Amino acid sequence: MTEKRILSGMRPTGKLHIGHLSVLDNWIKLQEEYKCYYMVADWHALTTTFDDTGDIEKSIFEMVVDWVAVGLDPEKSAIFIQSQVKEHAELFLLLSMLTPLSWLERVPTYKDQIDSFQNNGKDIRTYGFLGYPLLQSADILLYQASAVPVGEDQLPHIEMTREIARRFNYMFGEKVFPEPLSLLGKTKLLPGIDGRKMSKSYNNEIAISATSDEIWEKTRMMVTDPARIRKDDLGHPEVCTVFQYQKIYNEHEFENIEALCRQGKIGCFACKKLLYEKLDDMIKPIREKREVLLKNPDQVKAIINSGNQRAREKAMKTMELVRTTMHI
Ligand code: TRP
Ligand code: SF4
Repeated sequence: MTEKRILSGMRPTGKLHIGHLSVLDNWIKLQEEYKCYYMVADWHALTTTFDDTGDIEKSIFEMVVDWVAVGLDPEKSAIFIQSQVKEHAELFLLLSMLTPLSWLERVPTYKDQIDSFQNNGKDIRTYGFLGYPLLQSADILLYQASAVPVGEDQLPHIEMTREIARRFNYMFGEKVFPEPLSLLGKTKLLPGIDGRKMSKSYNNEIAISATSDEIWEKTRMMVTDPARIRKDDLGHPEVCTVFQYQKIYNEHEFENIEALCRQGKIGCFACKKLLYEKLDDMIKPIREKREVLLKNPDQVKAIINSGNQRAREKAMKTMELVRTTMHI
């Protein structure tokens, strides 16, 4: 068994934005070296949207369109939907029998998320939400994945997956599950246009489907150095959101921009124009590919069907092994 496998997933909770691109770049690169399974985690989305599922089908479809548009290759990777591979539910149930309650309660996202939803008037303290990280462990272990490319916020979940794998293997005396490693992308967290975390709920994101006008509108609204009122005021790029973007998206010009800003020789409007051009160049091919896919929904459905099929094949094999090991 030399084949190395990767599994990762995202919840379909709205349009992808450019903050997702660093994780996705990692997903794309890994396709060359590993057998990759990329999953739309629709059951995970239910943990917070259980009372409002009307849009979920559309969101799943759009997520697959976005992934393929940014460069995931459905020939190389299995792009699939969690709820279409029922083995996720079976493994989740079996693992739940051997998972101590305290492991779930101490996952940092548990209390944080409950509090942040509570502040918005929503109670998400359900049995399903408590089990969120365990469902994620089942997702990963079902493919006997050796690594999981994710953002930093997911590290505690991957750590718990390693603990579950260890516990299972120890309890049943067989090395059924490898302990998966986390693979972090290079780029640091990209802030939203107001400097806070980029998120649809703050309306501070730039969607990867944004039109040129929308990109300019968001760039124009970005917060800059508040001490700069006139063009010749000396600037402090280190406190400026536009500059953080220049560093990531304008590799060749950002040093020059930094110097000009400090000397008060470039205005924020001109600086934003430069950034806008870079963002538009980056998003344009993605936007065009999205449009082609949206016009060919059957092609997208075929990608999903084939991905589901490939995921099921592996999932069924793992479950046979799990059942034999557990004498179930
Ligand atoms: N919890 C992940 C997130 O919110 C999504 C996810 C579900 C996932 N299952 C996974 C990520 C398995 C990696 C592996 O982004
Ligand atoms: Fe920010 Fe650019 Fe204005 Fe300097 S010139 S404060 S880097 S927007």
